[in-house]
Amino acid sequence: MEQLYLYFFTPNSSSLFSVCYLLLQIRCTKRLRVCCASDQTQKMTVSVTGATGFIGKRLVQRLHADKHSVRVLTRSRSKAQLIFPVKEFPGILIAEERDWKDCIQGSNAVVNLAGLPISTRWSPEVKKEIKQSRIKVTSKVVDLINGSPEGVRPAVLVSATAVGYYGSSETQVFDERSPSGNDYLAEVCREWEATALKVNKDVRLALIRIGVVLGKDGGALAKMIPLFMLFAGGPMGSGQQWFSWIHLDDIVNLIYEALTNPSYKGVINGTAPNPVRLAEMCEQLGNVMGRPSWLPVPDFALKAVLGEGASVVLDGQRVLPTRAKELGFQFKYPQVKDALKTILS
Ligand SMILES: NC(=O)c1ccc[n+]([C@@H]2O[C@H](COP(=O)([O-])OP(=O)(O)OC[C@H]3O[C@@H](n4cnc5c(N)ncnc54)[C@H](OP(=O)(O)O)[C@@H]3O)[C@@H](O)[C@H]2O)c1
Repeated sequence: MEQLYLYFFTPNSSSLFSVCYLLLQIRCTKRLRVCCASDQTQKMTVSVTGATGFIGKRLVQRLHADKHSVRVLTRSRSKAQLIFPVKEFPGILIAEERDWKDCIQGSNAVVNLAGLPISTRWSPEVKKEIKQSRIKVTSKVVDLINGSPEGVRPAVLVSATAVGYYGSSETQVFDERSPSGNDYLAEVCREWEATALKVNKDVRLALIRIGVVLGKDGGALAKMIPLFMLFAGGPMGSGQQWFSWIHLDDIVNLIYEALTNPSYKGVINGTAPNPVRLAEMCEQLGNVMGRPSWLPVPDFALKAVLGEGASVVLDGQRVLPTRAKELGFQFKYPQVKDALKTILS
């Protein structure tokens, strides 16, 4: 804009030429934007693993509402049919594993969200399954994409990973350039990402390192809200651990944007720009719910219930969405207070 003023206030022949050139550029850019906008409204066929989960359900609803064709890749047709009844979701195709190949071939894009939930008690078997479930599904999806003949090969793979990649710290700040941590979840994320990276180079890959997703009907909040309702809510552990959260609408918007915008490539952190310490998160939750946040849950109690899995809540990391911001992604909920207010209203 400053440049524009400058040109208008220096009226000589070269500046007149510059003004014309500038106006031409503005017109071209506008036209380009109109083209891009109409490209984005082009209808896609999207195959989604983990579509029946907390994030997947909302993503499928969004894609379906926008008239894209959705293929739900699931382990259980009957479960998926309950979640996406034909009456509400006409045209959605539900496919068990033997039919994933036909679904992926001919899809424009694939979103990969499947994996055993991590917020359970970790036995050695569960730990193995947490890793294997992610690697197995990702590997299958990548093989099916790579094996698709040209012409019916999806152009985009948006694959989930997690901020656990960075390990945990109360003092460090992590973004996409930060190295990986050295705990179990970091190892899971590294192997999960490495599997997705085996996709053919002509397929655009966006790896979304997701933070703690906040929404009413699932994820961490669904476990915390009942405790606060009973006046038994409070921070877990020291409360000083970082909580890198994101509103469900924002993570779905980010995935959606990654499907349609060719600039979304490589690793992108899926976290809100203002992570908070867990104590603050609990205080805000208590305020919004009109309940106190006074009953801290000590480390040992959590470890007794969740075993090693307690590390998911006891250790955190402060993660910033540097790439999303560079890409111009607009967060609907940058502040946790507003996110909680909307979720609980
Ligand atoms: N929610 C969060 O706060 C968060 C944070 C960081 C990362 N993530 C990652 O984002 C992805 C989606 O999260 P979400 O919260 O929507 O997950 P979710 O609700 O737990 O759902 C994941 C889906 O994965 C499939 N699944 C479950 N167990 C499986 C197994 N043993 N083998 C293969 N597939 C299995 C299920 O689909 P079917 O039964 O239909 O096959 C399930 O609906 C996950 O990979 C998760 O790790 C989530």
